[in-house]
Amino acid sequence: MDARRGFLFADTPQIARRAAPIVRLRNFTRRFGANTIIDKLDLDIAPGEFIALLGRSGSGKTTLLRTLAGLDDSRGQDVTVPAARAVVFQDARLMPWKKVWRNVTLGLRGRDTRARAERALNEVGLGHRLDAWPLTLSGGEAQRTALARALAREPQLLLLDEPFAALDALTRIRMHELVLSLWRAHSPAILLVTHDVDEAIALADRVLVLDQGRIVGEERIDAPRGERDGIARDLRETLLNWLGVKPGQAGEGNGVVRLAAARP
Ligand SMILES: Nc1ncnc2c1ncn2[C@@H]1O[C@H](COP(=O)(O)OP(=O)(O)OP(=O)(O)O)[C@@H](O)[C@H]1O
Ligand SMILES: [Mg+2]
Repeated sequence: MDARRGFLFADTPQIARRAAPIVRLRNFTRRFGANTIIDKLDLDIAPGEFIALLGRSGSGKTTLLRTLAGLDDSRGQDVTVPAARAVVFQDARLMPWKKVWRNVTLGLRGRDTRARAERALNEVGLGHRLDAWPLTLSGGEAQRTALARALAREPQLLLLDEPFAALDALTRIRMHELVLSLWRAHSPAILLVTHDVDEAIALADRVLVLDQGRIVGEERIDAPRGERDGIARDLRETLLNWLGVKPGQAGEGNGVVRLAAARP
C-alpha cells in the first residue's frame, strides 16, 4: 500500500465526502536544537473525521498534537487549524482547588457557565458530581471530566493524547464507547494519539503511523465500527510492521496488542 496516497474521506454519515479539510499542514517542520522532530509533514483532516495516530515513543506524536492545539510555535509555517479546538491529555490535569464543574468551565466566559458544565458533565455520565472535588474522583471519572471540559468548548477539533493509557482495560473500553457516542453526537474531527493498535482499529476512520517525524503509513478503515473483527488481524499486522514491531514482539492478551510493550 502506498503510505502517502493522499487525503481520503471517512465513511461516517455526518462527514461531507468532499468537504474542505479543517486541518491542513504543508511541509511542517519542528526542530528542537539540532534535532528534527517533525519532518516536512503534510496532513489534512476532514470535518468530523476520526484519526488515530500511532508511533513509537519519541516519534513526535505529542509535538504534532501540541502544534495542532496551538500550544507550540508554528509561526511562519503553513498550518491551518480551527479556532474551536480542545485537548485531553493522558492525565486529566484538573485543578484540585476547583470543584468539578468549575474545572469544566475553566477559561470559559458567559453567565450560563454552570449550566454548560452541567450539560457536558451529564453527557459523560457525571451530572451528579458537579460539586465534587477532583481528588474524590476515580481515574476514569477524572478523564471523563477532562472530556466534559473539552466538550464544553464545542470543539471542531478534539485532540486526545493517550487519554485512556492510564486506565484499566474495562474502563478503557467504556471510554471508547463514550468517545464514540460524543463523536457521533457532536461530530468534531478527532485526532487520537495512542500506543494501542487495537484501539486505533476499533475507533478510527483513518490510522496514521508516525516515525521520526514522518508519516510512514496510512490506512483508511471503511468497515463499520463493531464489524471490524474480520479485518483486524491483517490490519494489525500491517500497522505493527510500519511500527517496526516484529511478530511476537508485541504483548498480546485478550485481543489487545499494546505497542508500549514493544517500546525500545
Ligand atoms: N520542548 C522540547 N525540547 C526539546 N526536545 C523536545 C521537546 N519536546 C519534545 N522533545 C523531543 O522530541 C521528541 C518527540 O517527542 P514527543 O513528545 O513528540 O514524542 P511522542 O511520540 O509523543 O512520544 P511518547 O509516545 O513517549 O509520548 C523526543 O525526542 C523529545 O525528547
Ligand atoms: Mg507523547
